[in-house]
Amino acid sequence: MDLTLSVVGCGYLGATHAACMSSLGFTVIGVDTDPDKVAMLSRGELPFYEPGLDTLLAQEMKTGRLSFTTDFSAIADADVHFVCVGTPQSKDGLAADLTYVKSAVAAIAPFLKEGALVVGKSTVPVGTAQGLRSELATSAPQADLAWNPEFLREGFAVEDTLTPNRLVVGVANDRAEQILKEVYEPIIALGTPWIRADLPTAELVKVAANSFLATKISFINAMAEVCEAAGGDVTVLAKAIGYDPRIGSRFLQAGIGFGGGCLPKDIRAFMARAEELGAKQALEFLREIDAINLRARQRVIDVVRSELSEDLTQYKIAVLGATFKPDSDDVRDSPALDIAAQLQAAGATVVVHDPKGIEPARKRFPNLQYSESVPECVKAADLILHLTEWREYRELDPSVLGPLVKNKIVIDGRNALDRDKWRNAGWKFHALGRSD
Ligand code: UGA
Repeated sequence: MDLTLSVVGCGYLGATHAACMSSLGFTVIGVDTDPDKVAMLSRGELPFYEPGLDTLLAQEMKTGRLSFTTDFSAIADADVHFVCVGTPQSKDGLAADLTYVKSAVAAIAPFLKEGALVVGKSTVPVGTAQGLRSELATSAPQADLAWNPEFLREGFAVEDTLTPNRLVVGVANDRAEQILKEVYEPIIALGTPWIRADLPTAELVKVAANSFLATKISFINAMAEVCEAAGGDVTVLAKAIGYDPRIGSRFLQAGIGFGGGCLPKDIRAFMARAEELGAKQALEFLREIDAINLRARQRVIDVVRSELSEDLTQYKIAVLGATFKPDSDDVRDSPALDIAAQLQAAGATVVVHDPKGIEPARKRFPNLQYSESVPECVKAADLILHLTEWREYRELDPSVLGPLVKNKIVIDGRNALDRDKWRNAGWKFHALGRSD
């Protein structure tokens, strides 16, 4: 393959994209300002946990096609530059912080060769790409800019990059589309749908998709609230409505709601942008989606109090799960950790277990207690909270845990445990949205 690629920003998205593009046969140069990250990646080690990516990275480093550096001038030979930096929620409001995207494009501009294509992959407020393209027209008129949103899920990053369910490219001309078709040729050959859009539509596709997913989750959590009030069972309701293909059964898992580095901040940034554009009312519903989501965390705390006492100071609570979802070590905006921290702030002794997330969790919440083993975590606990649905928690034997705890009470915050199994072993079992 003739094209050389650069990947600017080697965090979750960038490291995945760089390794995957190398596996397609391209020469790939990853650039990042963080020397520690670059050193680790250069040794073929991943700075985070992602199933399958560690092996792929190590394998690609051996081919000699993939390299990482802090030196931005190293991108000078590349034809296509993927911008994969973060766009976190800004400190003073709902909007996205575009500092990293702007500085990444400014950092590569002096090194862009004739005909180079800059391709944004970061999730940005609509209008950002057009603005950056105009800036490049002055700072690097020899280059062009396109937008190619990314839909990968943590835990499935490699699969979602190499066999995505669609490729969306926002371009201003045919040449940019042609270059991107050349890059993604092996993926297009698998029959992957290819969608060409203008720049604003491509940016909007990403936030619309995440808003829809967030809405689906909050919808089922709203149904969970009604089920609790009315004596229904949300898991049966979800199964029943999910058989309608127009609704679909995925993303209808009721529980403590969505977290992570994407869904929460994306819906907030989308609202903020809509307001700037004079379309505030169109996205007012997302405020309710956010509120339902945060309320789910509170509902778990309410059940804990009703099971133990309003005053939690004498109680030990074992929390199973710290990450925002299983098969990830990401604890950003994790509902599980938020609940653990709130219970601790209310005076309870909280001990948290997680198969992969203890170290990242400890960095964020150094005052919580952590345990490397489930039996140790639950020892003498007054109550167990199941908050991230790791497979190993589903496989726990409640009859083995029973003798270890003080009270056999478990609250399933993810509707993922086998209720009959726990009840048959003598446990009092609660789950969100299931009144029985
Ligand atoms: C999400 C999107 O799913 C990806 O398509 C997108 O590319 C990514 O954000 C992004 O913008 O980069 P991710 O953050 O990895 O991916 O996580 P999801 O699998 O979407 O889960 C988000 C949260 O929703 C998790 O906390 C999960 O526990 C929760 N969830 C999910 C539910 O509470 N119920 C469900 O039925 C499904």
